Amino acid sequence: MVEKFLEGKGAVITGGASGFGRGVAFAFAERGADLVLVDINETLLEETSKKIEQETKQKVVPIVCDVSDSKQVKRMTEQTFNELDNVYILFNNAGTAAQAGVNIIKIGEKAWDITMNVNLKGQWLVDKNICRKMNRQKMEPLRGKVIHTTSIAGIVADDTLSAYSISKAGIIALTQLVAKSLAPYITSNAIAPGYHTTGIYGNSEDTVIQSLKMSDVKTPLNRIGTVEDVVNLMIFLASPRSDFITGHIFPIDGGIAEVGVAANRFREWQF
Ligand SMILES: NC(=O)c1ccc[n+]([C@@H]2O[C@H](COP(=O)([O-])OP(=O)(O)OC[C@H]3O[C@@H](n4cnc5c(N)ncnc54)[C@H](O)[C@@H]3O)[C@@H](O)[C@H]2O)c1
Repeated sequence: MVEKFLEGKGAVITGGASGFGRGVAFAFAERGADLVLVDINETLLEETSKKIEQETKQKVVPIVCDVSDSKQVKRMTEQTFNELDNVYILFNNAGTAAQAGVNIIKIGEKAWDITMNVNLKGQWLVDKNICRKMNRQKMEPLRGKVIHTTSIAGIVADDTLSAYSISKAGIIALTQLVAKSLAPYITSNAIAPGYHTTGIYGNSEDTVIQSLKMSDVKTPLNRIGTVEDVVNLMIFLASPRSDFITGHIFPIDGGIAEVGVAANRFREWQF
């Protein structure tokens, strides 16, 4: 039996059609939340929304929106607050790595702009619009919770993901700034995933393994991350158990960011 701690509450999830957004959407609906799912991929968004609504019987509203476009974000926000009267959680998660896979000196201006506009400006625009309205809600002890998606590449810059790393480092600052601006009413935290099989890797484990090899990444816990790993952390961050936490970044990466070498090497050293 899952604890229905989101009963009577609404959650907005950007990038909700696929990967982490989709997994978290299921988990929040199972815990009683009504949802607004935001994504640029209309077909996938419709498919995911219908499936969650059918399986959980919660209200799921799909809104097609490019988060890097201020007009579309404004419209999405108005629609959201017309549909949900209690937007308690914002999972600000939409992102792309499609144009980010080159060294910082070689990367072109177009690739830089796409990455920054979706990954950094996009989360800022969504925060700015949703939080303004969230902060007017009369809920206690908190009026809402914002959870951003950064990356371990934002903590330790990866030169095969140059603009991506910078955009995700920006999300760490955004998380802290939102926490300062909206305390004590709204909390703001971020998850920093490592390497997980999602749409960003074409849902292919082989592609994740190639990326790990290309960046010479060693994972102490010696496996690829899953959507479920992220969902488990998100359930904690959305729950009352995390109500005294704001301004923090939570790596969920099998130990890459902090340790960075394979656990089996440690074992070898012990003998
Ligand atoms: N998968 C990983 O290993 C990993 C690691 C660190 C961080 N991340 C981050 O996690 C977040 C979610 O990605 P994912 O791994 O679940 O990949 P995913 O591709 O499965 O999901 C990302 C979703 O964002 C949507 N999206 C992309 N651009 C958009 C835009 N302009 N407007 C609205 N929606 C848009 C996509 O259509 C997609 O549905 C991203 O911010 C990504 O950078 C992923």
